[in-house]
Amino acid sequence: MLTGKRIILGVTGGIAAYKAVYLLRDFQKAGAEIRVTMTPSATRFVGSETFAALSRNEVAVEVFNDAQPGKNWTKHIHWGEWADLFVIAPCTANTLSKIVHGQSDNMLTSTLLAARCPILICPTMDGEMYESPSVSKNLEQAGEMGYYILEPEKGYLASGLDAIGRLPEAQAIINRSAEIIKDHRIQGPLTGKKVVVTAGPTREFLDPVRFISNPSSGKMGIAMADAARALGADVTLLHGPITAAVPDRIQSEQFVSADDLFELIKSHRNADIFIKSAAVSDFKPKTRSDQKEKKDRAELTIELEKNPDILAWLGERKNKGQVLIGFAMETENLINNAKQKLERKNLDWICANQLNSENSGFNSDTNTIHLLGPGTQKEFTGQKSEIASKILTEIFD
Ligand code: CTP
Repeated sequence: MLTGKRIILGVTGGIAAYKAVYLLRDFQKAGAEIRVTMTPSATRFVGSETFAALSRNEVAVEVFNDAQPGKNWTKHIHWGEWADLFVIAPCTANTLSKIVHGQSDNMLTSTLLAARCPILICPTMDGEMYESPSVSKNLEQAGEMGYYILEPEKGYLASGLDAIGRLPEAQAIINRSAEIIKDHRIQGPLTGKKVVVTAGPTREFLDPVRFISNPSSGKMGIAMADAARALGADVTLLHGPITAAVPDRIQSEQFVSADDLFELIKSHRNADIFIKSAAVSDFKPKTRSDQKEKKDRAELTIELEKNPDILAWLGERKNKGQVLIGFAMETENLINNAKQKLERKNLDWICANQLNSENSGFNSDTNTIHLLGPGTQKEFTGQKSEIASKILTEIFD
């Protein structure tokens, strides 16, 4: 239901904080990836270690890092960019009031202000508090400001009252979360499509300290991933050891060698679209030494063997409706070589780029790409981000 969705669970200081532990588990069972932020008072009810262990992630409580001053102080911004949804459960009257008035005096409220995703508030408190004029007014205002509110349920409360104020059951919160995420999907020609983009170089190790690689920065692949996301796709970026930073908004998995990438591709093989911008090494050392090769010899010969051609493997098994977009890096006969690769690997489209031309290629922010496909041959020049979106618009719009 929430497969691959990224949710920040905000826990505030009410007795229902203990239920957030089960909610976290249920979110995970529904397929979501969870990060937890807690207000300091929430940690009086449940220890942050519980959430850290279950979410397999650090829990954000403090804005300032006393142990390492200055480190990670922009976490609220990165988390805000990372999430598809922010759920505050339970949300106390105090945090509700802070949200409505734009306060950001702790990690939870700071992250909330930075978040670009929809926000679901689950107000949970004692019945008398819930019905107070200020809470009613704050809830009304929060709704008007665009926050989603899941009304609390009536039932037996910690105070002993039987009144409205209970945190709804986990399933109700999950159902509402899934609806909100669906409603907020970017609408475009790739909405609902699963797109896998590969980026960066591979490393083929000879011994523990040396490898064969290439200078690919991963910038073109990241630009393709971002462009696919902007057209509505659910994107997974598979990247090698790259110098460019992967934006928090993009889901990513890492590989080192061509064999690692092959395994990742197999695990995603039912994706709708593959965009293979990675610069995959064609060969790897036949043997890999466990110890560092010493220089106590006059010569060293490295025997290489072929890596699997991952794109050709996908081409041989292409499902109906699946789209394969390859890249061709050439130093000569650009168009002819690219056309041959298009056919040989059973691709739908190929983006050919000339490596040795000015303002193009590996580490540059700009590029020149010749897009070849059914009845199409077009040239795009400019920033990699602009080219990426033009290529995908040309293919899918
Ligand atoms: N590719 C791949 N697996 C490989 C080699 C390349 O999936 N072992 C993919 C690349 O990601 C790219 C396309 O195939 O999308 C073409 O890569 P390129 O290096 O240009 O061509 P090669 O097929 O390796 O052929 P050559 O080295 O002879 O140019």
